[in-house]
Amino acid sequence: MSEPVDARPRAPKHPELVVFRGARAVDPSAGLDATVDVLVERGRIVRLGPNAASPEELASERVLVVDASSKWLLPAFVDLHAHFREPGQEYKEDIGTGLAAAAAGGFGHVCCMPNTKPINDTRAVTEMMMSRAKSAGGTRLHPIAAITKGQRGEELTEMADLRDAGAVGVSDDGVCVMSSVVMRRALEYARTFDMPVIQHCEDHALTAGAQMHEGAIATRLGLRGWPRVAEDAIVARDLLLAEATGARYHVAHVSTAGSVRLIREAKSRGIHVTAEVTPHHLMLTDEAVVGYRTFCKVNPPLREAGDVEALREALADGTIDAIATDHAPHSPLEKDCEMQEASPGMIGLELVVPVLLELVHSGALPLGRFVDALTRAPAKVVALDAPCLIVGARAELTLVDPTVEHVVSAASLRSKSKNTPFLDRSYRGRVELTMLGDAFAFQRGRNR
Ligand code: DOR
Repeated sequence: MSEPVDARPRAPKHPELVVFRGARAVDPSAGLDATVDVLVERGRIVRLGPNAASPEELASERVLVVDASSKWLLPAFVDLHAHFREPGQEYKEDIGTGLAAAAAGGFGHVCCMPNTKPINDTRAVTEMMMSRAKSAGGTRLHPIAAITKGQRGEELTEMADLRDAGAVGVSDDGVCVMSSVVMRRALEYARTFDMPVIQHCEDHALTAGAQMHEGAIATRLGLRGWPRVAEDAIVARDLLLAEATGARYHVAHVSTAGSVRLIREAKSRGIHVTAEVTPHHLMLTDEAVVGYRTFCKVNPPLREAGDVEALREALADGTIDAIATDHAPHSPLEKDCEMQEASPGMIGLELVVPVLLELVHSGALPLGRFVDALTRAPAKVVALDAPCLIVGARAELTLVDPTVEHVVSAASLRSKSKNTPFLDRSYRGRVELTMLGDAFAFQRGRNR
């Protein structure tokens, strides 16, 4: 199950050339879906086309040939929404383990939310995260700084300073900016720096004490519910504010059919709104919480089948732009406890491909849209250069075996935390290799 991608003994340590041989290369942003060879030299794509590698190159000792036949070669993924717990809660995840998990999941870029300890509301924290990530190497980290100081929803952060230090957007994720006045100012202020404002949409007055989605199952379990309208009401208000200010507004982890309807309508009127959805909101309903499974306590909560259907449709038709993991590591301390005591969140970076390929295999999500929602679309939200499969581009590549049957176990994960309900099940498809620049950031079977 964990054999190396290229089992030939002659693989050179520092190949002059890497050839991905006979891959199905898929990059909708380049209009590409074809069986080709992709050649990488000193970290750049230098040639791409059917039989692009010469027989001499394929036979050369100085060339590393990766047999990619019957595999998909994709641009490396971009995650808009992860929680690495450094600084402050490194026992759950640190920047090194978070980035290793990201590389194993096929990600070349990860945007990290500011709810660390201390909160990333100053240049010093942003710079510290950037420098830790730089020394870890591999997947690149892009901090998302707080909208308000201490995520208290009152006073705006110094967004220009944070942007200059490397922040690609602002969010108080985990907490909603409740005040309309503060949200309006945040949109106006961020607009002057062309930064997106990413909102965690939750009317906290409507969710006080909530443990899961409000509905029949919450009633049966005797748990207080989180009604859909707590999300929808904030989305509706913010869309009006985004329209009034002309700012770039992004909805984090959309979970309801109502939010989808509002976003679709706003987009049709030309409002600058983008949105993301998580794999767990696409694949699970509130039924998963039955048995008081704390791994299925997430914020926003898992909803009902009608919501899942609306989210899937919205992702397929582009109303929801991006897939984002909301990778939220927690230790047994926060999860092996009563529902009321448990922290919300599940990890996700290493599970995107196995979990979501089910939608691609079933035809619910076209492969091109799946790739776009993990590459070009999220990169656009935070104005990053998207990984792409074109000659001259930096090599940022993810090789996926779409058909291999396998089981994801806790032991196979790079993340420090194992809080996900998606373990110990069999899947079809997984990431085999992630190449970032001139190095393999992940090779299955090689770097554990
Ligand atoms: O489930 C969640 N966990 N949702 C959030 O918004 C925050 C996150 C966390 O930080 O654990």
